[in-house]
Amino acid sequence: MVGRLSEKNIMITGAAQGIGYAIAQACIKEGASLLLIDTDGPLLKEAISRLPTNESKVVWVVASITDEALIVDAVSHAAKTIGPINALINNAGINVFNEPLATSDEEWQRCFDINLRGAWNCSKAVLPNMIANGGGTILNIASTHAFTIIPGTFPYPLAKHALLGMTKSLGIEYASKGIRVNALAPGYVATQKVIDYWNSFADPEAAKAKTMALHPGGRIATPEEIALAAVFMISDECPFMNATCLTIDGGLSVQQHA
Ligand SMILES: NC(=O)c1ccc[n+]([C@@H]2O[C@H](COP(=O)([O-])OP(=O)(O)OC[C@H]3O[C@@H](n4cnc5c(N)ncnc54)[C@H](O)[C@@H]3O)[C@@H](O)[C@H]2O)c1
Repeated sequence: MVGRLSEKNIMITGAAQGIGYAIAQACIKEGASLLLIDTDGPLLKEAISRLPTNESKVVWVVASITDEALIVDAVSHAAKTIGPINALINNAGINVFNEPLATSDEEWQRCFDINLRGAWNCSKAVLPNMIANGGGTILNIASTHAFTIIPGTFPYPLAKHALLGMTKSLGIEYASKGIRVNALAPGYVATQKVIDYWNSFADPEAAKAKTMALHPGGRIATPEEIALAAVFMISDECPFMNATCLTIDGGLSVQQHA
């Protein structure tokens, strides 16, 4: 199927690699126009050069989602070029993993600034236009950390739990304006973030094997498999899906360990 997103002007944060980039690729295939945001300018530029599209369909801005003014500017720049943003994918996020009592104030702040406040900054920047135009959709890339806890990953799961809370709250607040707000909860996905996580162990290969063995299917997701679900959730194929969360983890969070 192609053209399912031909009416959508989609803002994707953290689009230079990983899940964000896979979503950008999938959205382009479905005919969308894109506003892509990332802090890593060279990586973003290189990633865009690989997108199968002409330049008129893609606007990009190097910015941190923590910088509210830059995000507002990016959204108004996009409105003048590709048109008003009618779909937002809050994907940018970082791992901040520690033992609770060892967590510094700086780690706490960085974790919540990027994983929660950043998504709110972007939502705030697009919601007024969505309301004025009679609708839109926001998809927050949460995580299975939004409802389960792995010891030693504090405070990342707290921010993802809160992102799920924000999903529900905004979904309820703006449903009457034709706006749907949902979350997608991936388990492990094969991106640089996960490779960095494995590399944080003394034996990265053993850590990787342990992760694979946790999964009922013996493997983790590809970014493209997450992108397929994201396209569906922001498309008009699920008009009554709102204030909820879809888990894509191959069954990981359902399996009970003996
Ligand atoms: N990879 C996984 O296993 C996994 C699992 C569950 C949820 N997630 C979530 O999916 C999202 C994407 O993860 P990924 O694995 O693709 O990550 P990634 O590290 O591969 O890519 C993230 C991108 O976000 C950008 N970024 C980071 N901070 C930013 C900021 N302040 N402003 C703008 N851009 C910023 C980075 O430069 C990078 O290009 C994150 O929210 C993550 O928490 C990932």
